[in-house]
Amino acid sequence: DEIKLFAPATIANLSCGFDVLGVCLDHIGDEMIIRKSRTKGIRIIEITGADLPMDTKQNVAGVAGLALLDQFHTEIGFEIRIHKKIKAGSGLGSSAASAAGAVFGINELLGRPFSSADLIPFAMEGERLASGTAHADNVAPALLGGFALIRSYAPLDIIKINAPQALFATVIHPQIEVRTADARSVLRENIPLGKAVIQCGNIAGLISGLYTEDYGLIGRSLHDEIVEPLRSILIPGFEKLKMAALDNGALGSGISGSGPSVFALSKGIETAKNVAVAISNIYTEMQLPFEVHVSGI
Ligand code: HSE
Repeated sequence: DEIKLFAPATIANLSCGFDVLGVCLDHIGDEMIIRKSRTKGIRIIEITGADLPMDTKQNVAGVAGLALLDQFHTEIGFEIRIHKKIKAGSGLGSSAASAAGAVFGINELLGRPFSSADLIPFAMEGERLASGTAHADNVAPALLGGFALIRSYAPLDIIKINAPQALFATVIHPQIEVRTADARSVLRENIPLGKAVIQCGNIAGLISGLYTEDYGLIGRSLHDEIVEPLRSILIPGFEKLKMAALDNGALGSGISGSGPSVFALSKGIETAKNVAVAISNIYTEMQLPFEVHVSGI
């Protein structure tokens, strides 16, 4: 009658895949405990590690869970405990982890009436509450694992792509908060055709590199000329971090989701760890507090 689960962090966008690509991190995430109760509906009964709303309708886990229960009639209620380790406003899919964890757990306790793919639209409702947009590039990889490509939003068409074996992520989180809604408000509505062409080439190259496990192609494709230039000004030392990552063997580096975390992808855990040291040194020199993680994907 109870499930304890790991709700993973995710890196959305991956440079060229704004709103259409994300990847699940194996070793960074929250813990959630969901228990059946006799009182219908959903109650958030405990949140540790973050100061978040306990009111079900104001909480991303609550809203995502309610979206599921809206499509599946049951007399059973659910109590949710969330132990946050992913900081809100970090760019590591904190809200998505809670939303995805809630729908995954409730679905398990109900005997799995929905497939993992079916759960994505419910979890997206949590993202709508958190950022004003029901983007799927964090919740989809959190629910499916590996990489997830959102080929289309209407109708929703999501493709899971397995992560190449030797791919590791390094993420550094300066201890500042950037709200996704704010990071979206700096974006422009229109993009020049030339930039769209470059972006299409890179996203196609990245997807192709993931399928063929061509690490060089993955690295060459990790560029973003549209969103990164507008958002990187919100991230202290962004260019220095990126240079340090690339100089130390990373395949590519960019903003994780809407920031301020910065990610790098590397071939092999040793390189990912070297990158972690190099980018940590940048923030140490700048006397900025940070957290750094290396994770399999
Ligand atoms: N694709 C979203 C954005 C991800 O960049 O705004 C937010 O985590």
